[in-house]
Amino acid sequence: MKFFIDTANLEQIKEAQALGVLDGVTTNPSLMAKEGIKGEKNIIQHYVDICNAVTGDVSAEVIATDYEGIIKEGEQLAKLHKQIVVKVPMIKDGIKAIKYFSNKGIKTNCTLVFTAGQALLAAKAGATYVSPFIGRLDDVAYDGVSLIAQIRLIYGNYGYKTQILAASIRHVMHIIQCAEVGADVATCPLSAILGLLKHPLTDSGLAQFLADYKKING
Ligand code: E4P
Repeated sequence: MKFFIDTANLEQIKEAQALGVLDGVTTNPSLMAKEGIKGEKNIIQHYVDICNAVTGDVSAEVIATDYEGIIKEGEQLAKLHKQIVVKVPMIKDGIKAIKYFSNKGIKTNCTLVFTAGQALLAAKAGATYVSPFIGRLDDVAYDGVSLIAQIRLIYGNYGYKTQILAASIRHVMHIIQCAEVGADVATCPLSAILGLLKHPLTDSGLAQFLADYKKING
């Protein structure tokens, strides 16, 4: 399973990249706003800075919601850097635009996906990635991980190449469960990626090994 980091924070992106297990980055307008990135010029520069900090795909979301606007904005974003993936919302004009980008060889990430039907449409349009938001589904008492399993089954039935990018991940167990049901990618906050490292028996075992070494070697 690929690991993407779900943030626009450059320090966190660099920290995850330095771990050596990072495969890409996802951003969205809310994450950009959280970092205080304002104005078109700064936003564009920030995307380029993120691309230069990592080796994998970097999702940059369009703001337009009409077909022509999505195409114009998406083509501009795609020209910024070869790692840019154009993130397009799951709306009618978004699906049309994904089909257009797919025909042009521009990578896409279909975002704000909450049902298997939406994921099926995204795959038929040729999306590179589909982003089911599992945490937001859990928040409203639907099982987000079950949706990932459902999409995995459907894509397997027809051999769709669209990669399932589990998004809105909140914690370590989401990552493990997504791996169990076969998500291609998990996009996670840094805290969830680092959370995978942790177990109290690892900490106490290491403390014991170091203490015993000290006893013998002074
Ligand atoms: C990623 O592509 C999504 O924008 C993101 O995972 C949404 O996460 P949230 O539900 O924590 O905002």
